[in-house]
Amino acid sequence: ITITFIDHLQQATTVQAAPGTSLMQAAVDNSIAGIVGECGGFCSCATCVCHVDPSWVGKLPAPEAMESAMLESAAADHPASRLCCQIALNADLDGLTVHLPESQF
Ligand code: FES
Repeated sequence: ITITFIDHLQQATTVQAAPGTSLMQAAVDNSIAGIVGECGGFCSCATCVCHVDPSWVGKLPAPEAMESAMLESAAADHPASRLCCQIALNADLDGLTVHLPESQF
């Protein structure tokens, strides 16, 4: 599965990830700056916020209640914000593109 991360300077990095890994894990494994993943993917730190590319909004499963609540409390005001630890990669998401905020805090 090919994923492209675009940082706040519009620098794109494309990585490969195995199906079943989370988008957060794929970022951390590839040392993508901008994704911290402090809680290890338990939906409790909100340091893995990303903004889904407009071309992919609507193709991802909607956030679950816990993710929505975390995004709200993290004041993630971008409408396409997601916690990338809650996005499980599968073949349908091949080519996924997400944008990274300048900072996670
Ligand atoms: Fe902590 Fe996603 S890694 S909320």
